[in-house]
Amino acid sequence: MGTAEGVLQVFSGVAPRNLCSDPSSNALGLAYSFNSRLISTKRSASKKIKIPVYASIPLSNSEAYGVQGFGGSSYKDRSIDRLKFSSCRCQRAESVGGTNTGSWFVDSADDLNPLNTLVNGPHVLNFDDVKQLKEEKTDSISNGAPRASSTIHRANVDPIEEEAWDLLRDSVVYYCGTPIGTIAANDPTSSNVLNYDQVFIRDFIPSGIAFLLKGEYDIVRNFILHTLQLQSWEKTMDCHSPGQGLMPASFKVRTVPLDGDDSATEEVLDPDFGEAAIGRVAPVDSGLWWIILLRAYGKISGDLSVQERIDVQTGIKMILKLCLADGFDMFPTLLVTDGSCMIDRRMGIHGHPLEIQALFYSALMSAREMLAPEDGSADLIRALNNRLVALSFHIREYYWIDLRKLNEIYRYKTEEYSYDAVNKFNIYPDQIPPWLVEWIPNRGGYLIGNLQPAHMDFRFFSLGNFWSIVSGLATVDQSHAILDLIEAKWADLVADMPFKISYPALEGQEWQIITGSDPKNTPWSYHNAGSWPTLLWQLTVACIKMNRADIAAKAVQIAERRISRERWPEYYDTRRSRFIGKQARLFQTWSIAGYLVAKLLLADPGAARILITDEDPELVNAFSCMLGANPRRKRGRKNLKQSYIV
Ligand code: GLC
Repeated sequence: MGTAEGVLQVFSGVAPRNLCSDPSSNALGLAYSFNSRLISTKRSASKKIKIPVYASIPLSNSEAYGVQGFGGSSYKDRSIDRLKFSSCRCQRAESVGGTNTGSWFVDSADDLNPLNTLVNGPHVLNFDDVKQLKEEKTDSISNGAPRASSTIHRANVDPIEEEAWDLLRDSVVYYCGTPIGTIAANDPTSSNVLNYDQVFIRDFIPSGIAFLLKGEYDIVRNFILHTLQLQSWEKTMDCHSPGQGLMPASFKVRTVPLDGDDSATEEVLDPDFGEAAIGRVAPVDSGLWWIILLRAYGKISGDLSVQERIDVQTGIKMILKLCLADGFDMFPTLLVTDGSCMIDRRMGIHGHPLEIQALFYSALMSAREMLAPEDGSADLIRALNNRLVALSFHIREYYWIDLRKLNEIYRYKTEEYSYDAVNKFNIYPDQIPPWLVEWIPNRGGYLIGNLQPAHMDFRFFSLGNFWSIVSGLATVDQSHAILDLIEAKWADLVADMPFKISYPALEGQEWQIITGSDPKNTPWSYHNAGSWPTLLWQLTVACIKMNRADIAAKAVQIAERRISRERWPEYYDTRRSRFIGKQARLFQTWSIAGYLVAKLLLADPGAARILITDEDPELVNAFSCMLGANPRRKRGRKNLKQSYIV
């Protein structure tokens, strides 16, 4: 640690922490439960986690399955070297902190086999049972020739699905012989890997869900527990540390020489919290997705022991405390910088972007289910409940747009200084973009991208809208209206490949100013209204929740025409998504996993319940009290809710 860094930490009262840090030094006053046997050291330059040698793990099984290791380069190519020279300094996930004492030695080769169903427990969905979509595939032409009929493959297994499973398995990253995540992309044609050889938290979610739906729980469990360790790691950028509880955007499994032993190597997890990421963006969505995945894991596997562990409970609380901390805000929405989610570079979404709010709401709902009721967390749970109510009120009231609402905004009076202003955020009607006047359908509506004083970002952001449906942040009527709009605007939002990340594109001077002339985010490309096949899975969950799975099925059919033939691109470009994206990776894992999850859920819609949250009657009640107290109708003098210091 540099001197300046040390001084800052002394002043801020937050001691640098590592895994064996004294629990009492925790600024949040949370009870840590890291296993005292863990000795973790830090290398200040690279912020790697080192875990002491307890077992040297044979790796031959991984090799036998041709799996991916070491952050993604082909395992097949490197397995011999690895077998000879790697000495893993590893620990199994279950022995990382928590109440469970895991085993420190891996004796059985079976334990290392990621495909071993005995380890993973009973399958919920049998691969052979997965049914094909009923609809006929009218466009099953590949490269001009009819695609091989599924009858020559295993019974009932679609060839594209089969290929997707093979690719997903090839993308698995191993840490000391156990599956821990999936690499972002496995593109043999790309010369510049950047960080696509890492395991991204957000990218792993569809992979994890696919494995869960297939009954393979271990990889998800390992991912949850190992990323939890990373959460606790000290992270700094130019001597400044973000709030504790931040989850990394991504991590890499690195093989490094073992200290003091030239002939051996060890594997270390090397997280990136944004301190190396392009633009140095903090990934606000990572922790929220982590909570959502944790709930899904418990719901489908029935194994609640993971969420009940003390260290996992602490992890949930740390994320919540970071999100619920009081700030300067007047709004219940989370205030974040640009690029803090799937759109991870400048796209003008700083402030209160819908995607983050939907994930925040979903994570709060999930955490509410999982937090152990105990005296110490009563205030946190009350704060969480208050926030859920305030957040849903705010989004449902102020982010909603349809023809009627647009007309209301069009006629807004401005500069209203009063408690019961109609135009609370002082929106100038002139900012209604001309495209929207034409675009808004008679039937349907959506939640806008962002709301700030005197600013509404009217762009349609898909993930935020999908997840508002899934999490119940949108009302039932709003949820149906969003799907109505998607149907009405199919040619714009789906066109030749599902699904536009945002609509419409920023162009001309607007693009120059808002993106900083970003050549990757040119109009109708990448984050600037490019089409991302991974969004299929979120669309599918939303459609299933509203009993309108046919919409998702139609989108999947469109994707199937090209996605495998075009080698699973990361994104597509142009207004109608006709081109493979300019800089799109091929064999992008979340394109593959997103497709698989969509297929699996369409075959077994009931399984979507692991991701869906329904409004609970208590919240509905509180919500209607809040509506009654809405200052637009009447400003109540009585403080409706107690405040809780988080
Ligand atoms: C790009 C995407 C981001 C994704 C990452 C890895 O940076 O914008 O959302 O997580 O690639 O695939």
